[in-house]
Amino acid sequence: MPLPHLCLLATGGTIAGAGVEPQSVEAYTAGVLDVAALCAQTPGLDQVARISAEQFASIDSKDATPAFWQSLASRLQQALDDPQVDGAVVTHGTDTLEETAYYLHLVLKSDKPVVLVGAMRPSTALSADGPLNLLDAATVAATSGAAGRGVLVVLNHQVFGAREVGKVNANRPDAFAAPNAGPLGLVQDGRVTWLARPERPHTRATPFTPATPLVPVEILAGYAGASTALIDAVPATGARGLVWAGPGNGSASAEAMAALERLAGAGLAVVRTSRTGSGRVTAACSLPGAGTLSPWKARVLLMLALGAGASGPEAVQAAFDTY
Ligand code: SIN
Repeated sequence: MPLPHLCLLATGGTIAGAGVEPQSVEAYTAGVLDVAALCAQTPGLDQVARISAEQFASIDSKDATPAFWQSLASRLQQALDDPQVDGAVVTHGTDTLEETAYYLHLVLKSDKPVVLVGAMRPSTALSADGPLNLLDAATVAATSGAAGRGVLVVLNHQVFGAREVGKVNANRPDAFAAPNAGPLGLVQDGRVTWLARPERPHTRATPFTPATPLVPVEILAGYAGASTALIDAVPATGARGLVWAGPGNGSASAEAMAALERLAGAGLAVVRTSRTGSGRVTAACSLPGAGTLSPWKARVLLMLALGAGASGPEAVQAAFDTY
């Protein structure tokens, strides 16, 4: 039986980072190693899958843009449509990995496994986590049980669903978690143990594609004593939506709530999320609630929903209740 054939797209990040000192885990440059070097430093990769490797980009993921998401999705869709390809692995910086992962989860049209992977330590660090994370990601993508679970994220022996995963620590190798859902699986010693499936529709079950326009949406946060000047300034930015990262249940001071309602009255899509990092924002007040989505993920969904023609708070709330 031939090994599965995986398309490996490298995009940069700390997994491809290089520093000077072995103990440097902060002083390094992301996205320096090319994809051939990444594969060469990952012994055993060729025992897991036949890899077609491609250098798609070499960026620090803080510089990722919606245009980057769209071109990555188009390239992945092309690869997944190839009957010779069984799945894909994408190396990616960890800082905005969760946004790219959720975007791909909503737009790709395939049941084949797609796994995003990064690392918290650069390739030059002692105990660099990149090689084992990459081997684990390929192991997951080569596993038939990964099909139909949407886009997956593998770091630190855990397999997360793209909708629920977030970076929850700035430094440590165990930086990723899914606070509301937990991991979908574990990968250890070359074996994958599945624990759960994603509940919400994704990939082939959404109306979104890599060609769906991404409508500009901004994010603002609520905090004690915040002025409403930035809320009032949103229309001038050209944004057609605002994600509010409020305290607790996506709440807002009386002044901020009045300013948010003014925006909604002027036709902007305003969605409430929580700045707490977990829990569910209910649709209890006049502005739609994003449920369990983080502010960053809510922005991705709102950009797509508006791009697909959602109009008015009911249609926006329906998108958040569905995806
Ligand atoms: C990046 O996001 O590209 C840099 C940080 C990281 O990958 O951990």
